[in-house]
Amino acid sequence: MTQEIQSSIPSAEPSTVTIEPGPHALPGDNARKVFIKTYGCQMNVYDSTRMADALSADGYVQTENVEEASLVLLNTCHIREKAADKVYSALGRLREMKKLRHAKGEEFMIGVAGCVAQAEGAEIVRREPGVDVVLGPQTYHRLPQALKQARTGKRVVDTEYAVEDKFEHLPDPTKTPGRKRAVTAFLTVQEGCDKFCTFCVVPYTRGSEVSRPLSQLITEAKRLVDSGVREITLLGQNVNAWHGEGPDGKEMGLGDLLYKLAEIDGLARLRYTTSHPRDMDDRLIEAHRDLRMLMPYLHLPVQAGSDRILKAMNRRHKAADYIALIERIRQARPDIALSGDFIVGFPGETDADFEDTMKLVETIGYAQAFSFKYSSRPGTPGADLPDHVAEDVKTERLARLQELLLKQQHDFARSLVGKTIDLLLEKPGRMPGQIIGRSPWLQSVNVDAKTSQIGDIIQVRITDVGPNSLFAEVAGS
Ligand code: 5AD
Ligand code: SF4
Repeated sequence: MTQEIQSSIPSAEPSTVTIEPGPHALPGDNARKVFIKTYGCQMNVYDSTRMADALSADGYVQTENVEEASLVLLNTCHIREKAADKVYSALGRLREMKKLRHAKGEEFMIGVAGCVAQAEGAEIVRREPGVDVVLGPQTYHRLPQALKQARTGKRVVDTEYAVEDKFEHLPDPTKTPGRKRAVTAFLTVQEGCDKFCTFCVVPYTRGSEVSRPLSQLITEAKRLVDSGVREITLLGQNVNAWHGEGPDGKEMGLGDLLYKLAEIDGLARLRYTTSHPRDMDDRLIEAHRDLRMLMPYLHLPVQAGSDRILKAMNRRHKAADYIALIERIRQARPDIALSGDFIVGFPGETDADFEDTMKLVETIGYAQAFSFKYSSRPGTPGADLPDHVAEDVKTERLARLQELLLKQQHDFARSLVGKTIDLLLEKPGRMPGQIIGRSPWLQSVNVDAKTSQIGDIIQVRITDVGPNSLFAEVAGS
C-alpha cells in the first residue's frame, strides 16, 4: 500500500526464478553470470524469467550477487517518474563498477530492458556511456544475439516491435537448467493496452493490445503444471481484454480461457491481473460464479471516485457503473475480495473530487489496494492538462486515502481470524518448521508444516494477524 511499490499486486511473490548451473552452463566459476534487477509490475517479473531462459540457453547462470556477474540487466519500469529516475541512478553506479572490472581485465556488460528501454531507446546509450544493450519488451528473444554484437564493441539498441512472435522464439520455460520447482507461476496471456487513460504511458511503451493464441497458452500452462506448478496467475496490462479463437473458430474472451485452463489436470488455482472495469463481461463474471479454482480475489482498478476526474482520465465509465459492476460480481461470488489502484492529485482534482474517491472506497470496502500520487508523464495527454495539483496537497490526500485503505485491509484480515481456510503451501518460512502459504485472497500465511507438503493445499485455522502476513494452525490440530 505504500508509494514505493510499483506493482499492482506487490504481495504476489514472483515464481521462483533462481537458476543454478545446469547442463548448458559452463562449470564453476567459468560460467557467465547474469544479475537481473526487476523493477515494476508482474509483467516485468515474468519477462525477467523469460530473459533468464533465453540467456540460460546461451550458457548464463543467474546470480543474486552483482559482484560476481559479468552481465547486469535492469528490467525497467516507466509508469511513474520516480521509477525511471531510479534506473538512471542505478546505471550511474554500474558505470563505476564497470570501470573497476575492466581495469581488472574482466568482462562486464550492462543491459537495459523493459519500459524505460522502450520509451527512451537510444537516449539511454547517449546519456549512459556504460550501457551495452537496450532492448524493448518485444525483443527479449534476441538478447543473446544483441550481447554477441555488443561483445564486438557495437552498442545495440533494439526497441522495434518485432514482426515475429517473441513467445514462439523463447525457450521452453520449464527446460531452463536448474530452475527451482515453483508452486506458483505467472503466464502472460496478453500485452499492451488500447485504453489510453490520460495519465498512463503503457499504451506508448507496451504498444497496442496483443493476445497470445489459445493453443500456445494451453501448452505453456500444461508445461508449468507438469513441472509442479499448482497456481497460475494470468498476466496482461489489460488481461480481461484477452481474446482468441476457440478450436471451433468461435471468438473467446478471458472467461472462456479460464474455463479451458480449469480443465488442466493437476492445476489447483487460477488468478488473473490486471483488469479494466469496461472489459468485465458476463462470461468472466460467470467464471467467478462457476469455477471454484478461480480464486475469490479481483484486482479491478478504478483510479478515482469522481465522475469528472474519471472522464478527464478517459476511463470511460462512471463511479456508479463501477459500484454496480462490483455488486454483480459479489452476487456471483459472495466471498470475493476486492483490490484496486488509485491515483490522487490528477490535474484539476478538487477537494470535492477527492472526497468522492474516499466515498467510493467506503462504499466498496477493499481487502487490498495500491495508491499513488499522480506523476506527470511527458507525452501523455494528462501532462498537458491545466491545474496540476500542488505536491503538498497530493501528499496530504494520499496519506488520508492510504489510512482508510490500510484500515480496510486490516479489517478484512481480522475478519478471517478463527476461520478455517484453504492454504496453498509455497515455500519454507523464516522460522524452522514454518511454511508460508497463500490464502485464496492472496495473503501470506505462516503455518507449521513439513517441507514435503510444499505444493499441497491444506486446511488451516487463522489464529492471528501480523503486519504483512497471517498466522494459522493446521485445522483439527
Ligand atoms: N501517475 C501515478 N500513478 C500512475 N499509474 C499509472 N500511471 C500513473 C501516473 N502517471 C498507476 C495506476 C495504475 C497503476 C499500475 O499505476 O493506478 O493502475
Ligand atoms: Fe494504463 Fe489505462 Fe491501459 Fe491500465 S487501462 S495500462 S492504466 S492506459
